[in-house]
Amino acid sequence: MKILVVGSGAREHAICWKLNQSNKVSKIYCAPGNAGISEIAEIVNIKVNNLGELTRFSVDNKIDLVVIGPEGPLVDGLVDILEEKGIRAFGPNKKGARLEGSKSYSKNFMQKYDIPTAKYEVYSDLNEALEGLKNFEEQVVVKADGLAAGKGVLICQNKDEATSAIKSILTDKQFGEAGSTIVIEEYLNGMETSLLCFVDGKNIIPMESARDYKKAYDEDKGLNTGGMGCFSPNPIYTENLNNYIKENILDKTLEGFYTEGIDFKGVLFIGLMIQGEKAKVLEYNTRFGDPETEVVLPRLKSDLVDIMEKCIDGNLSDSDLKWSKEKSATVILASGGYPENYEKGKEIIGLNLVDDDIILFHGGTKFSNDDKIITDGGRVLAVTALGKTLIEARQKVYENINKINYEKMQYRKDIAKII
Ligand code: AMP
Ligand code: GLY
Repeated sequence: MKILVVGSGAREHAICWKLNQSNKVSKIYCAPGNAGISEIAEIVNIKVNNLGELTRFSVDNKIDLVVIGPEGPLVDGLVDILEEKGIRAFGPNKKGARLEGSKSYSKNFMQKYDIPTAKYEVYSDLNEALEGLKNFEEQVVVKADGLAAGKGVLICQNKDEATSAIKSILTDKQFGEAGSTIVIEEYLNGMETSLLCFVDGKNIIPMESARDYKKAYDEDKGLNTGGMGCFSPNPIYTENLNNYIKENILDKTLEGFYTEGIDFKGVLFIGLMIQGEKAKVLEYNTRFGDPETEVVLPRLKSDLVDIMEKCIDGNLSDSDLKWSKEKSATVILASGGYPENYEKGKEIIGLNLVDDDIILFHGGTKFSNDDKIITDGGRVLAVTALGKTLIEARQKVYENINKINYEKMQYRKDIAKII
């Protein structure tokens, strides 16, 4: 099989790495990829938002399966366009991806199907929003409705902060058109966990749980980022919680898909706030998470191509997913200053010095004109290890980070430090 993976981050490197282990695969292409991905896939110089070129490439090269990493092309309908041309694609169509593309749509979906989530209201008018704010408690969360690269969520400690947040999104257009509608919702306490699920249209089958670290600095200080590290499994994900989630979240989501006529195939990523042995949905994403994928796929023993094909064909079952008992951890090495301003083009040294059992997933990296690997983004590398215990996995990761260096390398020291 010839596979095209769309995307350029450590998530897409992990997907290519796992697909490459399948004996069904003869060739992997990646658009636009990065330096690390180029070791296992042929790089195709097409940007992820160029749906026309991605489709033309897939048709011209008789691609058997297109796997789409990021949300943008899913929300824009890449899967629909590929399917019209007879190309098989892994990921939801435009109708399914709307669950990530519009927060008001996904909150209304949750409310309609009685899926536990924070209380909320939707506004497009400033005065109505400010009036409506009075009905909430002091702490609220204000969210831009559309895609805002993970930055469109503002956590407000009091009504003054909320008022400024509402004005900056609706009036000052801080997130552009993505913020022409907002969701105001109740602030939830609890522990977050990410649950990625494979969906074949009829079944939602969870992968192993993972815990993401969203803040830039240790002890959850600093700004929200795309994710600074992760580990799997998350010990707060107990059997009782699993049963609660199945009954109250997964089954009801499926019922919603059925009633709304959403033929969802791909990955549904459910962001959860855990409260004891219950949970509420913070958000749906309609793709693999980053960095969740970097810790979950190394623990998957089954063939990923098989699973993706079964999702597309609508015949996936629980027994198709076999997991390693080992624990995994990943730490993101970022560019100094991320998620705000940072420099690119720094030479990365020491990549060849890491131990054989370390998996290096590249994010923002590329080759310089003289063939050195240099930084090319905010999140540069995901340094990943498996271990019999989480402590062992974490220790391996941090020992090996000491061997890697580039100017202004920035990373958290407390990933997976839960015991
Ligand atoms: P979202 O993109 O909607 O998942 O929001 C991004 C992050 O903001 C989440 O991962 C949480 O850390 C936080 N967040 C979102 N909604 C809430 C909420 N209702 N209560 C507390 N934290 C929230
Ligand atoms: N790790 C969060 C996300 O992928 O959106």
